[in-house]
Amino acid sequence: MRPVRLAVIVGSTREGRVGNAFGRWIADVAAARAECEVDVVDLVDFDFPAHYPRQPTAEVRRFAGHVGRADGFVVVTPEYNRSFPASLKQAIDFAYDEWHAKPAGFVSYGYRSAGLHAVEQLRTVFTELHVMTVRNTVGVDLCDADPLDTEDRRLAAVAMLDQLVWWAVALREARGLRPYVK
Ligand SMILES: Cc1cc2nc3c(=O)[nH]c(=O)nc-3n(C[C@H](O)[C@H](O)[C@H](O)COP(=O)(O)O)c2cc1C
Repeated sequence: MRPVRLAVIVGSTREGRVGNAFGRWIADVAAARAECEVDVVDLVDFDFPAHYPRQPTAEVRRFAGHVGRADGFVVVTPEYNRSFPASLKQAIDFAYDEWHAKPAGFVSYGYRSAGLHAVEQLRTVFTELHVMTVRNTVGVDLCDADPLDTEDRRLAAVAMLDQLVWWAVALREARGLRPYVK
């Protein structure tokens, strides 16, 4: 089987953010699976325009290219005011067809809610983009002493990635058989 190409999208670009650590962690967990090839797409590395451009800029095309090449996505998101950060929404809106008929899983984090409000809002956004969001998520409570270093967290990541890879393979095969309907 061709490797499953997973794009790990790191959604926070905040100065002093912690999201890059969660992105690195889930990228390492995914890359340890024999069937996965991981592309870390860290939004801090993109110089997006302040205003939605009439024509896509080179950086917008570069981002859409990462989305287009992926078979599935792990979206790493914090919770900001019961939602996900503007940096993530800005990027999501810069691709369209490239998202279609592919799955997404989530690693979220926040205080106590573990970022789950952000995930629920992302599910709504991704429905519009014909993205299949997987049931299980990895939710990290930042109140925990060492949020990543737990067996529960590792098992949650395995369950989310199992579902994500299943859908990524199934939908890749389906897209190969006939064009996706919109
Ligand atoms: C503007 C803003 C709003 C926030 N709102 C929430 C919130 O509603 N719920 C929550 O659990 N944490 C909230 N937090 C805390 C963040 O989840 C926490 O600071 C996290 O580290 C942010 O991710 P980042 O460091 O990768 O940017 C908020 C943080 C910021 C900066």
